[in-house]
Amino acid sequence: MTQRIANVLISEAELKERTDQMAGEIQRLMGNDIVLVGLLKGSFVFVADLARALHRAGVRVQVDFMTLSSYGEAMVSAGKVRLLADIQTNIYGKTVLLIDDILETGRTLSFARQMLQERGAGHVGIGVLLEKSGKLQADVHADFIGFPIQDQFVVGYGLDYAHYYRELPFIGTLD
Ligand code: IMP
Ligand code: MG
Repeated sequence: MTQRIANVLISEAELKERTDQMAGEIQRLMGNDIVLVGLLKGSFVFVADLARALHRAGVRVQVDFMTLSSYGEAMVSAGKVRLLADIQTNIYGKTVLLIDDILETGRTLSFARQMLQERGAGHVGIGVLLEKSGKLQADVHADFIGFPIQDQFVVGYGLDYAHYYRELPFIGTLD
């Protein structure tokens, strides 16, 4: 890896504070019994922190994950989404919150939401840690957004560049 972190965009403390706030917003709009469906791999850190924040907000959660193909090793979205691994939870009639690390073109979340709706979820909300401005191409919007960001490539807190940097406790940009 030759690239280094150029800048911390969102600190660990800011991530923690906002995750707690979001849990409160989610509880108020979605209630006290929610199935979290995280999109792997990018959402794993956010889902883990959000699940515990929801617990503190008095919400009972079930947690599951879905793996969809996306970037590979590139910095721009490949365009076509494929299902690589499915959830195990029966979501029929349930309140589901679909979680991703970042909403960019919206293709990934739009594809995932459609799959969950086809299985009879009672309600499907969408929560993302980050939303990149000006990139939406699919008919999808997030109900809960942690931080809006400019159109730039970011890593950390689950987000990778070529499979690295997911472990960083903050969101940063590369050199
Ligand atoms: P979308 O389908 O174009 O909205 O792409 C969303 C997916 O692209 C996310 O789940 C991320 O995995 C990936 N992605 C988009 N922007 C970035 C970025 O700045 N850094 C790392 N991954 C990104
Ligand atoms: Mg992803």
